[in-house]
Amino acid sequence: MSAHSGAPQEFDRAYWEEHYRGADREHGHGGAGLPPNPHLLAAAQGLAPGRALDAGCGHGAEAAWLAANGWRVRAVDISAAALERARERVRAARPEAAERIEWAQADLTARPPEAAAFELVCSHYVHTAAPPSTLVETLAAAVAPGGTLLVVGHHPDDAHHADTPGAHLTPQEAASALDPEHWEVLTAEKATRQAATGHGGGIPLTDTVLRARRRG
Ligand SMILES: C[S@@+](CC[C@H](N)C(=O)[O-])C[C@H]1O[C@@H](n2cnc3c(N)ncnc32)[C@H](O)[C@@H]1O
Repeated sequence: MSAHSGAPQEFDRAYWEEHYRGADREHGHGGAGLPPNPHLLAAAQGLAPGRALDAGCGHGAEAAWLAANGWRVRAVDISAAALERARERVRAARPEAAERIEWAQADLTARPPEAAAFELVCSHYVHTAAPPSTLVETLAAAVAPGGTLLVVGHHPDDAHHADTPGAHLTPQEAASALDPEHWEVLTAEKATRQAATGHGGGIPLTDTVLRARRRG
């Protein structure tokens, strides 16, 4: 998913509501049916399912995957339109998983999630009106001791998002938001991949991936 070309750089609630209403107008079902993010699949490998927070869940593909794989998920998004779509889609496609997801509308930077409450906190391509480090710090605070933080963002080298510099996150920015005394950074890197578009094609993406473990 990408921010629209020529969009304002203020990634506030109005921007995201319009983004999802626009996606529905253009495609009817937005990003429904897209596969979950492969960085999440890699990060969750070997973790015992517990409580997970999907921050900025969008269409809910990652929340659905986590729930289907045993996690109890809180899926938060600033956009009511995104949540409505996600809830409907997951309920229809994966009713058993849907029971394990609690959907919540909130601005994560204004209303931080519960502290130290989740064994896994993940966020994929979430760019807010606040600086990127603020979001990483906020999400990190929600991770329980021994838990995992995964933040996936658009790397500045990502050609597909070149016109939205406010959406960029570097591995250095992401990692420097974590206090080394409390965090073991497992991955802070640039990663390229081919992403499905939902129309049978693919686009090359250059991601920033931060994966870290909160010391117990
Ligand atoms: C580019 S979309 C990515 C959605 C999904 N994670 C994915 O990978 O497809 C960014 C998401 O973050 C949400 N978002 C942006 N700012 C937010 C905030 N301050 N609090 C909660 N969600 C936010 C948007 O509504 C949007 O769904």
